[in-house]
Amino acid sequence: MDKFEAAFNDIIAKDLKVEPRDWMPEEYRKHVLRQVSQHAHSEVIGMQPEGNWLLRAPSLRSKQVLLAKIQDEGGHGLYLYSVAETLGMSREEMINQLHAGKAKYSSIFNYPALNWADMGAIGWLVDGAAIVNQVSLQKTSYGPYSRGMVRICKEESFHQRQGYEIMLHMARGTKEQKEMAQDALNRFWFPSLMMFGPHDADSAHSSKAMEWKIKRESNDQLRQKFIDKTVPQAEFLGLTVPDPNCKWNETTGHYDHSPFNWDEFWAVVNGDGPCNTERLDHHKKAHNDNAWVRDAAVAYAKKTEGSLV
Ligand code: 3HC
Repeated sequence: MDKFEAAFNDIIAKDLKVEPRDWMPEEYRKHVLRQVSQHAHSEVIGMQPEGNWLLRAPSLRSKQVLLAKIQDEGGHGLYLYSVAETLGMSREEMINQLHAGKAKYSSIFNYPALNWADMGAIGWLVDGAAIVNQVSLQKTSYGPYSRGMVRICKEESFHQRQGYEIMLHMARGTKEQKEMAQDALNRFWFPSLMMFGPHDADSAHSSKAMEWKIKRESNDQLRQKFIDKTVPQAEFLGLTVPDPNCKWNETTGHYDHSPFNWDEFWAVVNGDGPCNTERLDHHKKAHNDNAWVRDAAVAYAKKTEGSLV
């Protein structure tokens, strides 16, 4: 082992952070780049289902809160693309990979948001799952990713509260509103659990991710943590988690759950979800229609380069 690899291993062993200028194994760089770029794509694509409901928000306040949340998600994408760029891939190349279907984004965003209760379920469950995953990622070994997660987690907590407030309002509302909230929980429960990825035994990347301390907890550990935290929240709402086997297990100290439908998961991941085509087409159109904004920003940066404004 040469001194560079020994230095890298020492950083990992001592729970220190790998920085962009540090030597790192090419496989580590590729692994983190893959995960961070897909995380960034997920943040930006995730703006679509909620963006569709901005003009139909039931009050000015709910519109303002949803707008603030969506803007946050765009910012999260910005931080994460910037983190990914420190690993040697341009933003343009990452976007090309997304458009070419060579890069993934979270499967959850390929499900439709059918009504306002879905805005609640997305904030409560999707951002709730994101918080569990991202709090753990604050301790990831790649420095820029870890620091980006600290900032993102602060904003993510507001997102979860925003969703839960909508669910509480509807669950305490009319019979029809409570039914809408229950229907939203029914449709988003399992897809939210799938955000944590395949079972550890079926995960292509987890063993290396744990060895290099990119992941600090496994897919199944984080998923269980989310289930254990969220089921009592559903009960407080007076809603029922759509899984007859979801029962507290005194022996394990966790909630049991039914087996997951991994055929559906891989179908959605591989492009056959309800909204995959719509999401990518919308991203491509927005990217092309707004190329002038990027061109103008680059031109302005060139013009003012070096001048103190
Ligand atoms: N959707 C799409 N693809 C998924 C997926 C999902 N829910 N879960 C796993 N995959 C993909 C992986 O990307 C990998 O494919 P690849 O080799 O082509 O990249 C394959 O399935 C195998 O899965 P692994 O578990 O082995 O892969 P990872 O070790 O990368 O673990 C992960 C998957 C847990 C999602 C991990 O990548 C991760 O923690 N990513 C960072 C968090 C993230 O991306 N969250 C997505 C949602 S963003 C969000 O929630 C925004 C919030 O504001 C709402």
